[in-house]
Amino acid sequence: MKLIAYDIRDDERPYAEAWAKEHNVDVTLLSDQLTDKTVEKAKGYDGINAYQQLPYTAGVFEKMNEYGIKYISLRNIGTDNVDIPALKKAGVRLTNVPSYSPEAIAELEMAGLMMLLRRMPEFRTKIAQGNFSWKPDIARELQTLTVGIIGTGRIGRAAYKIYHEGFGAKVIGYDVYKNPELDAQGIYVDDVNDLFKQADIVTLHAPATKENYHTVNADTLAEMKDGSYIINTARGDLLDSQALLDSVKSGKTAGAFLDVEENEVGIFNNKFSSLDEVAKKNPVLVDMIKQENIIVTPHVAFYTHTAVKNMVDDSFDALNSMVTTGKADTEVKFD
Ligand code: COI
Repeated sequence: MKLIAYDIRDDERPYAEAWAKEHNVDVTLLSDQLTDKTVEKAKGYDGINAYQQLPYTAGVFEKMNEYGIKYISLRNIGTDNVDIPALKKAGVRLTNVPSYSPEAIAELEMAGLMMLLRRMPEFRTKIAQGNFSWKPDIARELQTLTVGIIGTGRIGRAAYKIYHEGFGAKVIGYDVYKNPELDAQGIYVDDVNDLFKQADIVTLHAPATKENYHTVNADTLAEMKDGSYIINTARGDLLDSQALLDSVKSGKTAGAFLDVEENEVGIFNNKFSSLDEVAKKNPVLVDMIKQENIIVTPHVAFYTHTAVKNMVDDSFDALNSMVTTGKADTEVKFD
């Protein structure tokens, strides 16, 4: 069996090499992204392993079909950048890594939220100016607040555990698929608008779909209590950035922690000479970064040693299984 992996970063390479050695599989590791052109390098291989934020286009799948390559395994969870009709038409089957470390995402979320709640950005700014006064930055405790989780899959549940068991917060949830354990705890609201009305903090853990595009928007933000917080470590399209920015600027929303952004492709995991350069691509993002109470990180919730190793190992295990047995537990089925 011969496998080929695209867009392998330096931090992934040792894990990929170790996997190939341990499983005695011929694996070629490329730093190229997978495009209509670079897919040509996969000719003669049995399966493709990839991770990228760029779209996986129809051209990629057509060529896979032409070369007789039936399987692609992603080293991440999200499939929103996959041209699914084209994938299906080409008869290509796809796996992802649904559980590389839900805790990694939840931990970063807690870091961002705690910074906001305990007024770290404000104190940092004040202290840099020699101002050590407390006023007016008195904080609220998480145990007195209600957290609304939208999307209660593995990551939402990891966050639930920390909020509820760790901090003693009241947690409510919304999901089209109710998790039986959380349902038994009575956390679910039937209407997402109720969650917006009741929560002091709304955190997004849903995949990006047509149905939940801009779940957080001017209307839902207006429904929220004054002084509430928004967290997004899921997908940028779940949130209308301009609406959030306006709400924060007006003082209605107290703060936001965003690890993902609308139109982030080409920005995150890249280095620019200045924020002005970034503003040419995404002015709203830069305006957000300039707000003291909006904390932005570059899509790094997943970026831990544990998660990266699992992403590499689990994606190669899945591809190996697809090629040798024609099935894998993590195959993503698109209806
Ligand atoms: C995913 O797993 O889908 C992510 O968003 C993490 C990715 C940046 C590697």
